[in-house]
Amino acid sequence: MAPLPWSLLPDNAGVGPVGQLVVAGCDTLDLAAEFGTPLFVYDEDHLRARCREAAEAFGANAIYASKAFLCKAMARLAYEEGLGIDVASGGELQICLQAGVPADRLVFHGNNKSSNELRLAIGAGVGRIVVDSFDELDRLDALAAEGSPAPKVLLRITPGIKAETHEYVATGHDDSKFGFTVSTGAALQAVDRAGAADSVELVGLHAHIGSQVFRVDSFAAAVEALGRFANPIGLPELIVGGGLGVAYVEGEEAPTITQWSRIIAKAAAEAGITATIGIEPGRSIAAAAAVTLYSVGTVKDLPDIRTYVAVDGGMSDNPRPVLYGSGYETFLARSVTADRPRSARVVGKHCESGDLLVRDARLPADLRVGDVLATPVTGAYGHSMGSNYNKILRPPIVFCREGDARLVVRRETVDDLLATDLG
Ligand code: LLP
Repeated sequence: MAPLPWSLLPDNAGVGPVGQLVVAGCDTLDLAAEFGTPLFVYDEDHLRARCREAAEAFGANAIYASKAFLCKAMARLAYEEGLGIDVASGGELQICLQAGVPADRLVFHGNNKSSNELRLAIGAGVGRIVVDSFDELDRLDALAAEGSPAPKVLLRITPGIKAETHEYVATGHDDSKFGFTVSTGAALQAVDRAGAADSVELVGLHAHIGSQVFRVDSFAAAVEALGRFANPIGLPELIVGGGLGVAYVEGEEAPTITQWSRIIAKAAAEAGITATIGIEPGRSIAAAAAVTLYSVGTVKDLPDIRTYVAVDGGMSDNPRPVLYGSGYETFLARSVTADRPRSARVVGKHCESGDLLVRDARLPADLRVGDVLATPVTGAYGHSMGSNYNKILRPPIVFCREGDARLVVRRETVDDLLATDLG
């Protein structure tokens, strides 16, 4: 029944003269009319504020995990606000370089980096490579034999911590594809090997326990376990990953980046860690900064069963509900504070029944075809995990600030779809 909880909207959200959602001074109904739907609308100052929170706590060792949301404008923004950037593929790396981010501010991740990606990263001069496996150390040896300079590396270790989150995004427990496992002895072996190698310069350790974690005690436990392993080794750097959860739906509450940072700093001090600590927030920077706007195309009432409200996007712009069963809220952009007495399932336009955006949505009673529907907290792992399924064109992205809407990614065209198709 209740209206959308205001706390789920971007920092600079407001209500316009006829009750419509305004983001950073931009009327979302005007944005939908100008740029079309679906449309990702970001509050640029919200992004900047979250980056600054991370940078205030950890300085240059605060690193934005760009897998959450990346385009050139975002890479530049994170860099301007003082953050390094975590890239997890050659593609993410190239986008940051093209955005003008200095290579030495990039941290290169990935559990299966190819030799070409490693060559590209070393050639560009990335700041750090986080090495994930013995096979990667073999590849780095081979590159050194070709004459590549030795990169500064951290070793990703798997501390044996089970974070409370969806199994697909938990990474700190032993049964994981990521990193060198502490409990099997692999982590120590990797330290010995990398420490003795000429092909790399070992400067630290890295761990990431998972994503969408709400419980700060999980982070404190991870830092404690890391300290136990890392302190005797005595390397100067320790990155403790990202993973801070965000609230997506009514009733959820997440720590702020500042609170999370304090827990980490306190746990590190208590664990006697003297290495420089780094963090890698992704979702907590970008998720709540954006709303996605859709147009309602059909409303199908099935008496005594349910109502299906179909919009012009779906699992191709937000696969999280389908992949993880993630919950979202929704509301009408024209009446952001309206009560939502009507229940419905908000679905997309893809050719499968699983294509849903909001399983149990609450909506205003006067919802009708042609309305602009908005889903808040869609700034992370939406556009970045989007696809062209059904050859749907990926939506554009606008950054709003003080009444200006800047198109930073345009809508795809049919020519984009055909660009790689050689017939
Ligand atoms: N650092 C590393 C090494 C990571 O693997 C990740 C996320 C992060 C930092 C950032 O984590 P965050 O602060 O965003 O939680 N697609 C999933 C999330 C996958 C996270 C992958 N790694 C989702 O939509 O929930």
